[in-house]
Parts: sequence; C-alpha cells; structure tokens
Amino acid sequence: MTHSLHDLVEHGHIVICCGTGGVGKTTTAAVLALEGARRGRDAVVVTIDPAKRLANALGLAELSNTAHEIDRALWDPEGGAPSNGRLAALMLDTKSTFDTLVTRYAESPQQAERILANRFYRNISGALSGTQEYMAMEKLHELHEDGGYELIVVDTPPTRHALDFLDAPQRLLRLLDNHIFRLLMMPTRAYLRVASVAVQMFLRTVSKVVGTEVVEDVVAFFRAFEGMEQGFRERAERVMKLLADSGTRFVLVTTPRRDAVEEAEFFAQRLAETSIDVDALIVNRVHPRFGDENPDGLRRRAAELAASAGAAADPAVKDAGSRLAALYDNLADFQEISEREATHLTGVQGRVGGAAIAHVPFLATDVHDFEGLREVGRLLFEPAEVRG
Ligand SMILES: Nc1ncnc2c1ncn2[C@@H]1O[C@H](COP(=O)(O)OP(=O)(O)OP(=O)(O)O)[C@@H](O)[C@H]1O
Ligand SMILES: [Mg+2]
Repeated sequence: MTHSLHDLVEHGHIVICCGTGGVGKTTTAAVLALEGARRGRDAVVVTIDPAKRLANALGLAELSNTAHEIDRALWDPEGGAPSNGRLAALMLDTKSTFDTLVTRYAESPQQAERILANRFYRNISGALSGTQEYMAMEKLHELHEDGGYELIVVDTPPTRHALDFLDAPQRLLRLLDNHIFRLLMMPTRAYLRVASVAVQMFLRTVSKVVGTEVVEDVVAFFRAFEGMEQGFRERAERVMKLLADSGTRFVLVTTPRRDAVEEAEFFAQRLAETSIDVDALIVNRVHPRFGDENPDGLRRRAAELAASAGAAADPAVKDAGSRLAALYDNLADFQEISEREATHLTGVQGRVGGAAIAHVPFLATDVHDFEGLREVGRLLFEPAEVRG
C-alpha cells in the first residue's frame, strides 16, 4: 500500500518524526501538526530543543512541559481552517517528565520525595543516556491517555545512534533487570548477605574512583526505587505497544547528503527489523534541478561562451558574455549536485517500501515562524505540478 502525507495528517493519531541530527525533524514535526490543525484536527506538537526563534513562534519561550494552545490568529491568519482545528505545542522537559513519573509510581509521597531529593537522581534524570528519548515517549503516552488530542506529532532528539529512541523503553527495562541493580535494591541486611564478593569489590573500586559519597547516593537511589519497578515496567511496555499501534505513523526525515542518507537507511532497516513501517520519507533541503541538461554539455557551452566573450571587442558584450558563461558553469554545478543527491537517495527510497516520499527544497532562509512552516507545508502537500 502506498501511504500519503494527506492520510497521515488527516487520519494518523500519533506521528513520530525521526532521523539523524540537524536534518529538519523539529521543523517537520511542527509543519505536520500545523497541517493537521488546518484540516480541522485537534493537534499537538511535542518539540525537543527547537531553535530559539521557532520556539518563540510556537509560544514556547519558556520551557513548558504541558501543552499550550496556540492562538488561532497566529496559525490560521486567513481564517480558512475548519473551526474544530486546534494547534497546541509543548517543549519536552526531560527532567520534570521523569519527576512526574517518579511521583506517579512512588508508593508514598515520602518515597517520591526521597528519590527526587537524591543527588544521583538529580544528576541522571536529565542526562542519563536514553533518558531524553524515553521521556519523549513517556510524554507521548501521557498526551495519548490524558490529552484528548486527535493528532500528536512527536519530534525526537538528535541522537547519533538513531535507534536510541526506539530502544529507550526497553533500555529502562534492562536497567531494572540488571543484576547489580537488583542487588543494590535489596534492603541493607539482605543485601549484605546476598551481595556477592564481586559486587562488593565493584562498589569498593567505584568508591575509590568517584568517592564514597557518590556511591552512597547511588545505592540510596536504587533502594528508594524499591517497589516501583513493576509500575515502570508496565508503563514501558504500554509505551512499546503504543509505538507498534496501527494509528502510530513513522516519518523518516533526511537530507540528500550522503552521511544523512546513510543514517536514514540504517534507521529504515532497523525499523523494519522491529516490524515498523516507514509511512513517509521526507527529503529536506534538496537542491533544485533545472531541466535535464547534462552537466558536461553545460560546461562545454560555458567554455564556448567564455571564448567568444574573450574575443569580443565591445566591452559590454565581453562583460555580458563572461557573466553568461559563469551562469552556465553555475548551472552545471547545480545539475551535478542534484544528480549526486538523486544517487545518494536511491538506496533509502528503495528501502522504505510503500512510504510516501516528499522532497522539500533548500529554502533561502531558516524556517522559524508560521509563514515558513506554512511554506514548507505547501511544498510537502501541494507538489509543484498541482500548484502550477
Ligand atoms: N528546507 C529547509 N530549507 C532551509 N532551512 C531549513 C529547511 N528545513 C529546516 N531548515 C532549518 O534547518 C535548521 C535545522 O532544522 P531542525 O531544527 O528542524 O532540524 P532537527 O533535525 O530538528 O535538528 P536537531 O537534530 O538538532 O534537533 C533550522 O534552523 C531550520 O529552520
Ligand atoms: Mg530538533
């Protein structure tokens, strides 16, 4: 089945924009939520570290971990969108999402307080590898359960290892299953009885390196978690289920650069291994192609023009001729870039099966306001032939 971007924003429930760093995930996520709202859906975009100007445009000047609705006049200045269309945005705050989770699963307010006040927890809750990815998924789950939104578009962090984000819930489960973690979670006396010599040695060695205080914090942290693993485990499993749900769509964003395409290919492959389809491939910042002329022919033409300009007696003709020669050379450069980009893309385009494929040109300016988002939306949803 061939998917379409229209279907994605009109019928998708959760849309996850993934891809390697800097390719346009945040921009794409905002565009898709905007296009959903413009088609009458109650949409929210979850952004991660948006560029400052885009954050301002979305009303996210301050870190806001709860979604806030964007004034309609801003995203629908012409007033053409159906009245039930709504657009909201939030900027993921990893730490406070983690705090909320701890508070939810703590068996008592005292347990929550103990964890939240723990120094080790305070250090890891924002920084542990995979935490941001997991908390993005956690937020997604929360919006799905409690937010009442029809369309939830999720941005993902710029992880070099593209799969961190898919792996995140499982990674948390693995941490909870970890042997040392289990031993550390045991109440003190039982721990002393059971803890193997190896673990004690490990702790002693770690103490020497990082200081006893840190180790005490870590041990206290894991002990404070006692009784909460089950809640976390179930939650992580529900998040994984939501990711595999048929209403959840995956959008793979890439640029045509070789390095980005290689990462996109790897990502597509791993998604396939997880039995997840890529619903759309968005190739962003594509160089334009001007006709089908071959670059070598254009270079020859440039050389001829330069030669006749050189031979011309009239300075005005000379000048015009050499400028035209330079333009032909420039056109040849563009055709070469464009050919190279097309070559880079063949692999990934072949790998995404029936996914909708859309190209967005390299724009002259950043995309940092609603006008820019709408322009990208137009380019994505109304290909040139249709726009005329
Ligand atoms: N088609 C385009 N033409 C020109 N600039 C673009 C285009 N798409 C995005 N940009 C700009 O490129 C920059 C990176 O885009 P964006 O922040 O969406 O990428 P990202 O994948 O979210 O990055 P990160 O991985 O760092 O989070 C932004 O300044 C954005 O405005
Ligand atoms: Mg981003």
